Amino acid sequence: MFNRRQLLALGTAAATGVVATSLSKAATPGASAAAPATDHAAHLAAAGEFAPRTATSGPVVTPFTQCMPVPPVLVPTSTAGGVDAYTIEVRPADVEIVPGLQTPAYTYAGHFTGPTIRARAGRPATVAVTNRLTTPTNVHLHGGHVAPDSDGHPMDQLVPGATKVYEYPNAQRAATLWYHDHTHALEADHVYRGLHGFYLIEDPAERHLDLPSGDFDVPIMLRNAELDAAGAFVFGGHPDNRTVIMANGKAQPYFPVAPRRYRFRLLNAALKHVFVLGLGGAEMTKIGTDGGLLPAPVPVTEVAISSGERAEVVIDFAAWAGQGPVYLYDGANPIIRFDVAPRRVADRSRVPRTLRSLPALGTPTVERTLTMSMDMTLRPPIGLMNGRPYDPVRADVSVRRGATEIWNVVNEDLDPAFPFDHPFHMHLMQFQVIGRDGGPPLPEDAGLKDTVYVGPRGTVRLQVTFDTPFTGEYLAHCHFLEHSALGMMLRMDVLP
Ligand code: C2O
Ligand code: CU
Ligand code: CU
Repeated sequence: MFNRRQLLALGTAAATGVVATSLSKAATPGASAAAPATDHAAHLAAAGEFAPRTATSGPVVTPFTQCMPVPPVLVPTSTAGGVDAYTIEVRPADVEIVPGLQTPAYTYAGHFTGPTIRARAGRPATVAVTNRLTTPTNVHLHGGHVAPDSDGHPMDQLVPGATKVYEYPNAQRAATLWYHDHTHALEADHVYRGLHGFYLIEDPAERHLDLPSGDFDVPIMLRNAELDAAGAFVFGGHPDNRTVIMANGKAQPYFPVAPRRYRFRLLNAALKHVFVLGLGGAEMTKIGTDGGLLPAPVPVTEVAISSGERAEVVIDFAAWAGQGPVYLYDGANPIIRFDVAPRRVADRSRVPRTLRSLPALGTPTVERTLTMSMDMTLRPPIGLMNGRPYDPVRADVSVRRGATEIWNVVNEDLDPAFPFDHPFHMHLMQFQVIGRDGGPPLPEDAGLKDTVYVGPRGTVRLQVTFDTPFTGEYLAHCHFLEHSALGMMLRMDVLP
């Protein structure tokens, strides 16, 4: 049986054949005339992997010449009444991704990796967001258990100049969440240009485990981009042309570390990429995933995260004190160089043998099948879930609050010429993966998830309990955001 790495490699290898075929289909007379007049059609620029694989001549990146920044932690403007009140302006700014080049970006508060919000479980936060862009925007808290009117619904937009206060109850366990734009059909464009940041929920149970904390608890947002020679973003090109790989907004940076344990919160914020992360064979300890800590730490040499997923690892640099640099690789590509200081330091952190038990699975009363696919006969192609593109006025799935359900998420791109993979993401809840491709889940499916990789022609079976105080309109979609922008998204209503 294939392991996930092999499946991913297979997907990539097979994808090499994709463009030539899709181009020849596009050349069929009349093919584009069949495109329906949906607003997705207006966003041909989001075509991504359907675009020709011709890279613009971008900047030459000399790796490891800039230090990886840690995104600044946002300070509340008020803590009155036990609520942390934050303010964020969404505004354009020129940022330096590649040394010496200015990249015009969209930012949260001027920071290309938005400021990190560190929330505490049980203590609500509000974020007053003001749109200083010339395009609409909104904010979605990915992984957050929030009311529908704070979920960043695609049609719930802040026009230029508008302000909206988002309410985040933080009534959930400690986890690495993130916030990003979710404007209807523009989410891919907006996230690509920089509308992404970390939202970390902390709680006492986690604090008492004595995992590395403070300066040794480092969020790392990984993503890629295609830049032109002047440094500007090129949006809409083939994902394989996005050869500028960033960690916290800097192309292939170095990061000085002490010879001790670090907790890294790895987030894949790329529009469409699967990072396969490792230290070149050396051991890391995986401790968490989308919804927080695993029941127990798992020694690994590699973690794979597709767009939207998180993985938390502890790396102990003690053995490398004063030794040559350590690289974090994506596949064979070194993306971060860790420079390990020579002097030994005291390290009171630890990785306990047990971390956090998962909630009980519950008894499912509903089972459904959801399909994800691309209609490649149209130009631009249309993304489908259950055979239809997203329509905000149509409820596709209605669930009962409190119910436990099994969802079989099926990648229905059955045409071998288009072996697309799709990371499936559900708003509002975390789920557990209970099966994959007809068999048991893979080891890396363990834990609480809100985004899960569904390989070419693959199936993921997941179980979720809608244990939430909220009812209303939510979403489920492909987290390759070009696919969701093309319609691969459905409306999920939570009924009382
Ligand atoms: Cu991170 Cu609806 O998305
Ligand atoms: Cu989300
Ligand atoms: Cu997809």
